[in-house]
Amino acid sequence: MNYQTSLSQKLMQERWQITTAMDLFKWNRSIVLLFLCSCCSYKEEHAINREYPIANEQAAIELGKKLFFDPMLSANQEVSCATCHQPSKSFTDGLKTTTLGVTGKSLGINTPTLLNLDQSQFFFFDGGSSDLASTVFNPLTHPDEMANDMSSLLEYLTSDSSYHSKFESAFNTDTLVTSMLLKSIARYIETLQSSNSRFDAYLNGDIALLQGEQMGWFYFQKRSCNRCHIPPLFFDNKFHRESSLTFSIKGEFKLGDKALGRFNISQDTMDIGKFKTPTLRNLIFTSPYMHDGRYPSLSMVLDNHPVQLNEAEKQKKMTDFEKSVIIKFLYSLTDSTVLE
Ligand code: HEC
Ligand code: HEC
Repeated sequence: MNYQTSLSQKLMQERWQITTAMDLFKWNRSIVLLFLCSCCSYKEEHAINREYPIANEQAAIELGKKLFFDPMLSANQEVSCATCHQPSKSFTDGLKTTTLGVTGKSLGINTPTLLNLDQSQFFFFDGGSSDLASTVFNPLTHPDEMANDMSSLLEYLTSDSSYHSKFESAFNTDTLVTSMLLKSIARYIETLQSSNSRFDAYLNGDIALLQGEQMGWFYFQKRSCNRCHIPPLFFDNKFHRESSLTFSIKGEFKLGDKALGRFNISQDTMDIGKFKTPTLRNLIFTSPYMHDGRYPSLSMVLDNHPVQLNEAEKQKKMTDFEKSVIIKFLYSLTDSTVLE
């Protein structure tokens, strides 16, 4: 995950490019293509994308799903993506900050749900990645998550015959390169789409909301929650700071500390303590909340959130009634159809 400073993030990305470049050289035609591409000033990634596009969408998704649930992809063969992104918890793990990686060490950050990420421009709470397939590289290799390396992974996948036909039908080639592994997991994640909640049915004009939900929807808008949690996705592809947090820039924090949020990537002091707006879908399954899992209940979130309110708004403390109907509304965003 992006628990690195931006420098080591860059190094990881470079490592990824080196691996993929080496993969590319395994295939003679690619060398020719790489040469041709560099002549016409194409980037190497374009060569990879051009050479190994997904040939069969359904096969790639099935392959991605098999990989997502396969603990053999981790160094100790015990941790899969689904160890932390558990379908029954809407792809979270119920922990404040996760400790489910190969070392059992806390990663210092809450495991987010993986819904509707095809609409996300950034990945990780600090937006350290902007491409889903390269995002997948991080957990596979992070020492406290799955701690594997690409050559061992490719070795395992080539030696396991149950994967051969799957890669072949997904990519229509008998060559196996790193980018295929990343692409197919990303493709599977993109299928985790939530659009079947009661609120969606209401938006489609199929049902009426219950009275409490309807009141909650009213207050959700009145309290400007929808400024950042924009329906129907309930995120805005932006970064915001919670007003309840105060930061001392000097001394207390060092680059890479999770609490610094977006600052770790942008190194713009305006970004200290800002985090990517999470979706509000399936909150019933995803407690505890926030990047550090600091609130075990929605009622606690509402006591301390929203963020960056102006002074006038802060005076208008949320009443218990408002809180209870907003929570009813939030639960109308429950969609169990994505949990299978
Ligand atoms: C040890 C637990 C753990 C494992 C194993 C794990 N993840 Fe994660 N995942 C997390 C945490 C924690 C974050 C949030 C990290 C951050 O924001 O810095 C995360 C974030 C992500 C994100 C970004 C989500 C967003 O909204 O920005 C994606 C995508 C993701 N993981 C996919 C995967 C895939 C694919 C695998 C398997 C290859 C995997 N994860 C394995 C804990 C885990
Ligand atoms: C200025 C933008 C903004 C506004 C306005 C806002 N939020 Fe948020 N919300 C965020 C951000 C950013 C986070 C994540 C913060 C973190 O992880 O520390 C968040 C987190 C949450 C969470 C926790 C989600 C999770 O999975 O951890 C809930 C619930 C929530 N907001 C509900 C609301 C409600 C209800 C309102 C209106 C009363 C509201 N928000 C107003 C930006 C906003």
